[in-house]
Amino acid sequence: MLDDKYVTEKKVEITIDGKTYYLPMVVGSEGEKAVDIRSLRAQTGCITLDSGYMNTGSCCSKITFLDGEKGILNYRGYRIEDLAEHCSFIEVAYLLLHGYLPTVGELNYFGQLLAKFALLHEDMVHFFDRYPPNAHPMSILSSMVGSLVSFYPEMVNNPLENIDLMASRLLSKLRTIAAFSYRKSLGHPLVYPRHDYSYCANFLNMMFESPVRPYEVNPVEVAALNKLLILHGDHEQNCSTSTVRMVGSARVNLYASISAGISALWGPLHGGANQAVIEMLEQIHLKGGDYKKYIERAKDPKDSFRLVGFGHRVYKSHDPRSRIIKRACDDVLSAMNMASDPLLAIAKELEEVALKDEYFIERNLYPNVDFYSGIIYRAIGIPMNMFTVMFALGRLPGWIAHWKEMWDDPDTRIGRPRQIYTGPCQREFVSIEERKLGDR
Ligand code: SDX
Repeated sequence: MLDDKYVTEKKVEITIDGKTYYLPMVVGSEGEKAVDIRSLRAQTGCITLDSGYMNTGSCCSKITFLDGEKGILNYRGYRIEDLAEHCSFIEVAYLLLHGYLPTVGELNYFGQLLAKFALLHEDMVHFFDRYPPNAHPMSILSSMVGSLVSFYPEMVNNPLENIDLMASRLLSKLRTIAAFSYRKSLGHPLVYPRHDYSYCANFLNMMFESPVRPYEVNPVEVAALNKLLILHGDHEQNCSTSTVRMVGSARVNLYASISAGISALWGPLHGGANQAVIEMLEQIHLKGGDYKKYIERAKDPKDSFRLVGFGHRVYKSHDPRSRIIKRACDDVLSAMNMASDPLLAIAKELEEVALKDEYFIERNLYPNVDFYSGIIYRAIGIPMNMFTVMFALGRLPGWIAHWKEMWDDPDTRIGRPRQIYTGPCQREFVSIEERKLGDR
C-alpha cells in the first residue's frame, strides 16, 4: 500500500495539447522516484505505453530492494551478502515471509511445520506413474502445484490467517515433488523425507539416497545449496513474481498463483537460463573451447545467439548474486576435491573477455545469477533439466511473500493493463457468399 509519507509535496507537471496537468510524485524509502499516473487517463484521456514494463512500477513493496546501477540487493533491508554468508535458506524464507529474522524458537517451529508437511498425498504420488520418463520436471512441478488445491482445499479461502501453514506446506511439498520427479525419471524407488534432516539435507537425501550403495549427505553440498537457494529467494517484480501477483490479483488461490509463476520461470530468458548456460558452455567445450567465436556471435545482430547468463533488465552493473556464486564455485569444487571444472574455466574466460568488449560495456551486460549457478548444481550431481527446478525452490518464499503482500494490500486491484489499438478501423460486414480472396 502507498503510505502518504512517500508522496511528495511537489507535483509533476505534464503538458498535453497545450494544457498542463499535475500528478503526484512518489519517493520510496531508498529514494526511488515515480510519477503516480493513477489519475492520468481520467485527467488527460491519455495512457502510457511501456512494453515489457521497463519504466513502469506495478506496486509498492516492502520485501526486496535492488539498485541495478550500484549492484545492491537487500531482502527486507538485509544485504544479500550477509544473508548468504550467515543464514540458512529456511531462515531467509522466514525473513521474506514475515519481514524479520526469526528467533531460535520461531525457526524451530517453522522447521517443525516443514517436517509435518513434507509428505505428498499418496494419491498425488500416483500422478508420477503417468508422466513419461522424459517429462521436463518444470512441467511436472507446475501441474503438481496447481493440483495441490484439490488435495488441500482448506485454508484457501482465508489464506492470510493461515499463511504460515500454507507457506510451509508449499515450501516442503515443492521440495518433495522436485526430488520425486527426478527419482521417477530414473525409474528409481522414491526416497521419502526424513524428520531429522534439514531442508537442504532432506532434498539431497531424497534425490540421491540409494538402497544399493551408501549415501552420506555431504555438508559442503548442503552449505552450497543453502547459499544458492538464498540467492534465488526473491528479486522484486521479475517476470515470474509479477505473474504470481497478476494471477493472484484475480483472487486466485495461492497454489494456482504459484503454479503460474513456475511456468513463467521456465522461460530461457528467465529462470531457464541456468540450464541454457551449461548447454552453451558444454557446446563451447565440445567444440574445442573457442569461446571467442561465441562472443562474436553474441555481438552479431544477424545472429540470434545470445551469451546466456549475461545481461539483466535491472542490473546495469554487476549482479551481486553472480559474484557470490562465482566465489562459491571455487570453494565448493575444491572442498569436493573436484579437479578444476573445464566449464568453469571457460565461463571465467568468457566473463573476462566480455567485460572488456565494447559491445558488452556499452550495453551494460554483466554475468547474472544464472551464469555460474549451474556449475555448482552440476558438481553436486543435480541433472541439467533440474536446474530451473532449483531456481523455483529458491524463489518460492519470494513468490509467497509477494502473493501475501498483494492479497493483503488495500490498493490491490485486478491486474488489467490497457493497450493502444493499431488494427483496422470500423469495416462493413460482408456475408460469406460475397467474400472474395482478393478483397483482404
Ligand atoms: C533472470 O528480472 C529479474 O530479476 C530476473 C532474474 C531473477 O532473479 O528473477 O534476475 C533472473 O531471469 C536473469 C536473466 C537470465 N536470462 C539470461 O541470461 C538470458 C540472456 N540475457 C538476455 O536475453 C537479456 O539480457 C535479458 C532477457 C536478461 C534482459 O533483456 P532486456 O532487458 O529486455 O534487454 P534487451 O533484450 O533489450 O537487450 C538490450 C541490448 C540488445 O542489443 P541492441 O538491440 O541494443 O543492439 O543488449 C543486447 C540485446 O541484443 N543483449 C545481449 C544479451 N542480453 C542483451 N546481447 C548478447 N548476449 C546477451 N545475453
